[in-house]
Amino acid sequence: MKRKLFVTTALPYANGSFHIGHIMEYIQADIWVRFQRMQGNTVHFVCADDAHGAPIMLKAEAEGVTPQQLVARIGAERKQYLDGFHIGFDNWHSTDSPENTELSQDIYRKLRAAGLTYTKPVEQFYDPVKGMFLADRYIKGECPKCGAKDQYGDACENCSSVYAPTDLVNPYSTLSGAAPELKTSEHYFFRLSDPKCLAFLREWVGNDRLQSQVANKAKEWLEGKDDKALGDWDISRDAPYFGIPIPDAPGKYFYVWLDAPVGYLASFKNYCGKKGIDFDGFLADPQTEQIHFIGKDIIYFHTLFWPAMLKFAGYKIPDQVYVHGFITVSGEKMSKSRGTGISPLRYLEIGMNPEWLRYYIAAKLSANVEDVDFNPDDFMARVNSDLIGKYINIASRCAGFIAKRFEGKLLGQDESNVFISEMQDAAPVIADLFENREYGKALREIMSLADRANVFVDVNKPWEIAKTGRPVDLHRTCTDALQMFRLLTLYLKPVLPQLARSVESFLKIPELKWSDAAALMPEEHEIDKYQHLMTRIDPKQLDALFDIPAPAKEKMGVSVTSKSGSQSQSPAISSSSTPHPTSPGPAAPAAAAATISIDDFAKIDLRVARIVKAELVEGADKLLKLTLDIGSEQRTVFAGIKSAYDPAALAGRLTVMVANLAPRKMKFGLSQGMVLAASGEASGIYLLAPDSGAQPGMKVK
Ligand code: MSP
Ligand code: ZN
Repeated sequence: MKRKLFVTTALPYANGSFHIGHIMEYIQADIWVRFQRMQGNTVHFVCADDAHGAPIMLKAEAEGVTPQQLVARIGAERKQYLDGFHIGFDNWHSTDSPENTELSQDIYRKLRAAGLTYTKPVEQFYDPVKGMFLADRYIKGECPKCGAKDQYGDACENCSSVYAPTDLVNPYSTLSGAAPELKTSEHYFFRLSDPKCLAFLREWVGNDRLQSQVANKAKEWLEGKDDKALGDWDISRDAPYFGIPIPDAPGKYFYVWLDAPVGYLASFKNYCGKKGIDFDGFLADPQTEQIHFIGKDIIYFHTLFWPAMLKFAGYKIPDQVYVHGFITVSGEKMSKSRGTGISPLRYLEIGMNPEWLRYYIAAKLSANVEDVDFNPDDFMARVNSDLIGKYINIASRCAGFIAKRFEGKLLGQDESNVFISEMQDAAPVIADLFENREYGKALREIMSLADRANVFVDVNKPWEIAKTGRPVDLHRTCTDALQMFRLLTLYLKPVLPQLARSVESFLKIPELKWSDAAALMPEEHEIDKYQHLMTRIDPKQLDALFDIPAPAKEKMGVSVTSKSGSQSQSPAISSSSTPHPTSPGPAAPAAAAATISIDDFAKIDLRVARIVKAELVEGADKLLKLTLDIGSEQRTVFAGIKSAYDPAALAGRLTVMVANLAPRKMKFGLSQGMVLAASGEASGIYLLAPDSGAQPGMKVK
């Protein structure tokens, strides 16, 4: 029985380019979809831009374009990333589309007809200058508890107390700086607290369709703490808002999270229109499975609001929501706003093979919600040893002989070769692992088969029999090795689709399907000349990816010499190109540099910083990782001071940092500034320290 699958990934916000987190999600889903297709199942795999909401509206305004223009510009960028990483969506659409308007309004009308919507007045902060209501994130003020300035409307970063935006002292709008006013307007609500909604959600959440960690979270929200069960959901926003108008409600728009998931359906409908597929029919078929891949930060919307909306509007409800954790880079969380981590576009631009990343991410993924870390050294070791050292190695050691000695033709099958039959027998086990998103386990299984294949080649030594002239043995060994290489390719194909295509053409075989594991290439089957299939990762590529500059000219003296962003003159102390005491440098402390104006100097935001933590960095011989407190926030800085300081002795000390240096991606993580130190002809590095009494965050000028 073939399955019918409708698969989506979360719709990315249309105000920014893809980051590595998006790519990881798409790789996870794409592997699953490719696996399903190899099984002969029908899959429709779609995504779209999540276009609506205040941040996009405001960003467009700031750029002087319409939100539609902004969304179109970002939308036009998507293809190069998706093609680049071999992400095979069938369709890419937008939530700002006729299909989405129609579907969202239809769902709303049906919920209203079911008596599940109502309106009530809501009092909220309003920016009288901008003429708009303010979401909490656009309000700041002084903490009502500790008085810290510039705190957000929900919690204080200084004393961690939690409060409502209306509790802030001297609140201001971050959009205009104006003091916000409290103003009332009518809001539309989805009655999630209705007993029939709760009953449905209890059943849905408890129905084995969620990972246990996810189901537990959802149940917790559903039942609430301290008798505070799930409340109703505010689904409206007042004009001005970039969104879909609520029917019969002038000046009211759907809150972006109402129409965003409807975008899954809108994209599918758009695709069906282009392909002549019956949209309603496909979804109405009880056989059809609807599956959403998402990250752990948006579980709430996908396990409560979304299924309830669909259910009570009479639509198909999701069958599975597959949640993944976040990707970190060298253990560092990436920040959406600072856009750090690995730039997917840079990865492609410097010619790194997308399948290395697909393989590495797959190797780290499991069916649970744990975060996944990208570690550059591990990445290189893993890919080079598994893909090149184990897998490709089999073909590269055997294929040449077939072409040179046997006119490219294979021998018949060898029933007695247990290496081959055990590899064939693994097909259902590996299939199960892919099906259950246990990619890491699947790849370990496949690599252990590759190990066995290498044992077979090592034992039979084709390069030696080739010399001693036992042509039949040579032919046998190389044929069998290539049979195994074909099977390994089949198992790796969901992860390495491009490589599998090259192998299919080199072996002159039709596109591999999962069921092909049962058969082998027949006697006399002719293959092409072997051409190298994949190269190793070169450490230089990783340096380029992480922007590690070539060894810079040494700079002496206090190192406030960097132009932010200019990597060739990189700051001596915050980078790995720290002046080493014993390395050659100018003979005397640098003579006074050219003069600058006081305005030039004022551009440098120097702050007193407390070293909260100093840590060794694995694999770095010169760097220490410093966590610095500058009053309003904490920063991570990599400083080339390991030769001079014991990390334990640094914790608690005050120093001076450049706080407005553009953050730099380094191999080990993100460096968000630079600490100042003196060094000269003699050896030694001397960290600057303010006089006693200085406080973290004070300006140095
Ligand atoms: N627009 C919403 C989703 C609407 S779905 C109807 C959104 N967009 S997003 O661009 O912020 O995130 C898109 C997806 O990327 C989400 O599934 C999110 O969890 C995922 N990721 C964002 N950062 C991530 C990592 N660092 N690692 C892995 N996935 C991450 O949320
Ligand atoms: Zn506080």
